[in-house]
Amino acid sequence: MIRLRRVSYRDGTITDSRSKHVVVMVGLPARGKTYMAKKLTRYLNWIGIKTKVFNNGDYVRKLTTQVRNHNFFRSDNEEALKVRRKCALDAIADAAMWLENEEGQVAVFDATNTTRDRRRMIQQLVEIQLQFRLFFIESICDDETLVQSNIKEVKLNGPDYRGMNPEDALNDFLQRIRHYEENYEPLDEHLEQNLSYMKIYNTGEKVLVHKHSGHVQAKIVYYLMNIHISKRTIYFTRHGESVLNQRGRIGGDAPLSCRGREYARKLASYINEQNIDNLRVWTSWLQRTIQTASEIDAPQERWKALNEIDAGICEEMSYAEIKEKHPEEFATRDKNKFSYRYHRGESYEDLVARLEPVIMELERENNVLVVAHQAVLRCLLAYFLDKTVDELPYIEVPLHTIIQLTPVAYGCEMEYLNLNVPCVNTHRCKPDAKACRDTMLSGLLQKSKDANPRLSACMEECEQQCRDRLQSDSFDKSNFGLEIPHL
Ligand code: ATP
Ligand code: F6P
Repeated sequence: MIRLRRVSYRDGTITDSRSKHVVVMVGLPARGKTYMAKKLTRYLNWIGIKTKVFNNGDYVRKLTTQVRNHNFFRSDNEEALKVRRKCALDAIADAAMWLENEEGQVAVFDATNTTRDRRRMIQQLVEIQLQFRLFFIESICDDETLVQSNIKEVKLNGPDYRGMNPEDALNDFLQRIRHYEENYEPLDEHLEQNLSYMKIYNTGEKVLVHKHSGHVQAKIVYYLMNIHISKRTIYFTRHGESVLNQRGRIGGDAPLSCRGREYARKLASYINEQNIDNLRVWTSWLQRTIQTASEIDAPQERWKALNEIDAGICEEMSYAEIKEKHPEEFATRDKNKFSYRYHRGESYEDLVARLEPVIMELERENNVLVVAHQAVLRCLLAYFLDKTVDELPYIEVPLHTIIQLTPVAYGCEMEYLNLNVPCVNTHRCKPDAKACRDTMLSGLLQKSKDANPRLSACMEECEQQCRDRLQSDSFDKSNFGLEIPHL
C-alpha cells in the first residue's frame, strides 16, 4: 500500500510523520508489557530517541475506581467497554499530540490490546489517518508460576489493589486475566499480515519478528531480544586513585597511587568474600582499571569502549589549567556539559554512543563488576537510573566506592558502599550560570589584552561594563555588544 506522507513545518524544521513511531504493547495482564514499555523507553531516551509511555491503566483509573473489581473487565460489561475504549482513544490522542507538538519520536501505548478489533482501530487511527509508523510488541507467557510471581511482585501493591487484602487481590487479578483470556486473539501472521510486529514468548525463549522496517524498529527488536529478567546484581566501581588523580589532572594513563593500590586490595577481598555466582569482571584498556581489578578472583575482560572520556587537547591538565589556558572552552563546557566535545576529544554524548554495545552486553549478562572511570560510569548509571542529559554529567561517582545496582520491578535500586580508603575528590559540581558567564568574560578580556597591550589601559572601564551586562540573564556570547573605548 502506498501512503502519503504528512509533512509539517515547525520552528523552521520539517517533520515527516513517517519518522515518528507509535509502539503498541499487546498481551494478557501480568505478561511484562509495562516492564518492557518502561525499559524500552529508558533505553531509547538514553540513546537520544525521545520516547514516552502512555499507559492505558492511568487513563482508566482517572475515570473510575471500578478496576478494583474483575467484573469491570468482563466482555459483556457494555458500560465498562465504553469506558475502556474511550480511555484507549484518549491515550492515543495524547500520544499523537506529543509526537506532533513536543518533538517526541516514539510514543509507547501500554495497554492489553488483545483483540483484533482493537488493533484494527489503532491501525486505522495511527497508521492510516495520522500516518505514524506503527509497531506492535506482543508478550506471550504460558508459565503460570512466572505469571503468579509477576502478580505478587507488581500488582498486589500497585495502584489497582493498594490497601486490599493480598489474597483477595490475587484472586481478583486471576479472574481479571480469565476475562481477557475469553476474547484473546494473539497477533496472527495471516489475518494481520500487513502489520509490523514482534512476538516475545516466555521472556525471550523464542522471538518472532514480522515486517519490521527502519532503524528505530530495528533497534527496538534488537534491544528486546537482549534483555532478560533473571535476578542479578551489577557492580560498578571506578579504578583506585591514580597518580594523576592525586595531582588533580584529568585523563592520561597513569598507574595507581599508594592509596589506589590499597583500594584495589580491599576491593578484591570484598568481592572475593561475596562468592558471587558466575561473576564477570570488565575493565577498560587503561592501566588504572586493570591494576584495580588485578587481585579479583573472576574471569576478566578488557573493553576499549570503557576507556575514560578523551579530553583531547586538555588531557593530563588540571581543571585550573584548562580554565586558564582555554577559558572559553572551559565555560562552554560548563554551559552544556553533555554536548560539549573537547577539542580533538570526546563529549559525553559521544561516550553514550560508544557505550551502547556495553549496555547491550550488560543486559545479556548476569552478575558483572565493571571497573571503569568517572565519565564512563556516569553514562552507564544514567541508563540504569533514567537520568536526563542535564543530570548525567553531574552524577556522583566517588573514588574508592562500590556502586551496587539491583534491578527491581520497573527500575533499579542503587547502593553506595564506601570501602574507607582515603582518596581525592574529583567531582566538580554544576557551576551556577553566573560563574560560567564570569569565566567566559575573563577569557574574552584576557584574549583582548594579549592581542593589543595598549588596550589594557582601557580595560578597567571595559570590565566594569561587561560585569554590568553579564548580570543580566539575557547574556549571549555571540551578541556580546561591548562598547570598547576608542583608542
Ligand atoms: P497489565 O496488563 O496488568 O498492566 P503487564 O503485562 O503490563 O500487566 P507488568 O506490570 O509489566 O505486566 O509485569 C511486570 C512483571 O513482568 C515483572 O515482574 C517482570 O519481571 C515480568 N516480565 C518482564 N518481561 C516479561 C515477559 N516478557 N514475560 C513475562 N513476564 C515478564
Ligand atoms: O578526574 C578524573 C576523570 O576520570 C578524568 O580523567 C575525566 O576527564 C573526568 O574525570 C571526567 O569528569 P568531568 O566530566 O566532570 O570532567
